[in-house]
Amino acid sequence: MVTPTVPPEAITPPMTPERAAAIASTFDLHALPPDFLANPYPVYAALREREPVRAMPDGSWFLTRHADLVAVYRDAATFSSDKHVEFAPKYGTDSPLYEHHTTSLVFNDPPLHTRVRKLIMGALTRRAIADVEPGLVALVDRLLDAIEARGQGDLIEDYAAAIPVEIIGNLLAVPHDERGPLRGWSLAILGALEPVLTPVQRQAGERAVREMLEYLRALVADRRRHPLDPQRDVLTRLIQGEADGQRLSETELLHNCIFLLNAGHETTTNLIGNALVCLHEWPQEKARLLQRLHATRDRPEQHEAVLAAAVDEFLRFESSNQLGNRRALRAAVVGGVPLPEGALVTLCIGAANRDPAVFADPERLDLTRSDNRHLAFGFGVHQCAGLSLARLEGRIAIGRFLARFPRYALSAPPVRGGRARFRGFVRAPFVTEG
Ligand code: HEM
Repeated sequence: MVTPTVPPEAITPPMTPERAAAIASTFDLHALPPDFLANPYPVYAALREREPVRAMPDGSWFLTRHADLVAVYRDAATFSSDKHVEFAPKYGTDSPLYEHHTTSLVFNDPPLHTRVRKLIMGALTRRAIADVEPGLVALVDRLLDAIEARGQGDLIEDYAAAIPVEIIGNLLAVPHDERGPLRGWSLAILGALEPVLTPVQRQAGERAVREMLEYLRALVADRRRHPLDPQRDVLTRLIQGEADGQRLSETELLHNCIFLLNAGHETTTNLIGNALVCLHEWPQEKARLLQRLHATRDRPEQHEAVLAAAVDEFLRFESSNQLGNRRALRAAVVGGVPLPEGALVTLCIGAANRDPAVFADPERLDLTRSDNRHLAFGFGVHQCAGLSLARLEGRIAIGRFLARFPRYALSAPPVRGGRARFRGFVRAPFVTEG
């Protein structure tokens, strides 16, 4: 068993002013320090204090203050999400990755963004999300039963990663026996967004887009012949939206389905996995949470509120999605720094979510934190369309896990995914009774 000692964030190496200045003035997203992925937070803190709008060697800008991120998110007319310019040299304009990442709604501006978002939001209603809950509870309980029978398992493979694939699969009514490849495709396509891309990652991403397109062409053709209830089925809604004068081309339809299938995968897996690893590393916080859950067990509303606050704190503290990007369509000033027209801007969500200007004692996991204005879901016109679903998955997965295995413990050090953009683990072995 791995004994929780001091949370990694508490072992901050002595941060002298000289060290902070050196970190901030040499930071390059394309050449990260070796220990960065294990604990990026001291680097984020140095940047926030010293160079919150940092000019990087490749001419792009790296933003770490909460207020600056909010300002950029708010001004979508100046800060574009369209990635045609940025991704042309990265992928080549004739590659499947280029076609995919420049067609999905998240990387577009109005009018394509507005049309697709409206269709998706129309299907992700409060009622549709409430409908997801019974199936989600049953799925989670089945996974917990299987783990209980073995007395051990892997937090990621056996639990966190097994939940989102089914939920998103249900949302688009992907037949159960066809869901096998979805997670691998998602990891490969989103992995290709890393700041530095290896040839192997690129090839895996290209292959995944091609395979997913082929699969979805058949699924869409079948759904056109046999439509489902458009109030519930996102795919039927996207298809029928075409008939309402909100026509999506076949390419737009397919790539936005790919994006939807991918968007809620790794992010939600990481929310659940990061939360359960965090609780192991912060035993006192875990004990306090268990106490509050126990005290509210007969008051469903308060019980839900305890879990909701915890989920939002996990999202703040270890944000699944650490980086976002925008391109300045005209010259602008951010945080007092003039940015030229065409500036590529990286928004560091992980740093903004620990900004002491907004969060008291930001390096501490505080599961009772209120007024938690984290940016884990982004902000503004592109704010995560699946945030209610993700929060629901988080509450149910984390809450029911703790109710079943309150004394769980990691049995070996967890293994990180090795990505700067998506923060999470690929393995975290545990025993149910630590
Ligand atoms: C913990 C889980 C999740 C996190 C941390 C997360 C995070 C984010 C972030 C940061 C953005 C904004 C990107 C930007 O502004 O550039 C975003 C957008 C989006 N997310 Fe999520 N997401 C999660 C789960 C989900 C789920 C479950 C779904 C699907 C149902 C989903 C669907 C979307 C969509 C469609 C967009 C694009 C919205 C737009 O461009 O208007 N996400 N997400």
